[in-house]
Amino acid sequence: MTSQPKHSSFDALIAEPNLALAMQIASGTGKLLLDRPDDLGVTTKSTATDVVTLMDQAAEAFIVSELGKHRPNDAILGEEGANQVGTSGLQWVIDPIDGTVNYLHKVPHWCVSIGLMEESSGLALAGVVYVPVLDQMYISSRGLGAWVVEAGVPRELKVSGCTELSQALMGTGFGYSSSRRASQARVLQEVLPKVADIRRLGSCAVDLCLVADGVLDGYYERGVNAWDHAAGELIAREAGAVSSGLFGNPIGNDMIVVANPAIHGDLVAILEANQADQD
Ligand code: IPD
Ligand code: CA
Repeated sequence: MTSQPKHSSFDALIAEPNLALAMQIASGTGKLLLDRPDDLGVTTKSTATDVVTLMDQAAEAFIVSELGKHRPNDAILGEEGANQVGTSGLQWVIDPIDGTVNYLHKVPHWCVSIGLMEESSGLALAGVVYVPVLDQMYISSRGLGAWVVEAGVPRELKVSGCTELSQALMGTGFGYSSSRRASQARVLQEVLPKVADIRRLGSCAVDLCLVADGVLDGYYERGVNAWDHAAGELIAREAGAVSSGLFGNPIGNDMIVVANPAIHGDLVAILEANQADQD
């Protein structure tokens, strides 16, 4: 009788060249970001609360330069302005720091998010979300499952078994404009009494990985961008989550709802009843 090698599907996953490259780059970016200068050079973007630091920019420049060395024909889209056209049909969608406010305030929930998309279909092919402070690397490649490597030890990810919305721990987030936040508060008022509790951890990508790990039972947010969810949404789906927008729409800037299959429909129903995809 032979026994299954302990990490057979993990070995197949990390042998995937695009994922291996993304893991290597995310790890290097994490090291760069942990070495914080005293002055982070904080400036603002869309509103006074939408901050960016010199480290966001340095991290994006590092990722773009590494991708340029290894994948010169691929397109790149990044939160801090990277926007390169490619010829290969593949696009890297990157967030050098998802959770910049956490990074600034030294809350550990911030990450480097690197996703790879097929341009023609918009399908996610690979994703890495690396949380440097906790040394957690969440990874997935389409069809090969989702894993987390914590301090070097791999563990397969699986969504929670929660079947009742009233028992569900839900993640969400808020935008940077006060009018968007006011409408998100209106929706929150309706969701909060119907779930076990809500967490606003401050990084869409980390929230999605926590859904993948069954720590959160679901997550929804209006207003997130492709770089926030490109990697994390694949990781969550490969761990068994269901992902959608509202009213039959795909995920997008209007709304993303990602949850275990047992509660996804009920969560969508509450959000639709409250037109949570509109301000
Ligand atoms: C933000 C985080 C946050 C979410 C915001 C995002 P950033 O990204 O993901 O959790 O609520 O909508 O903009 O600005 O930290 O990269
Ligand atoms: Ca982000």
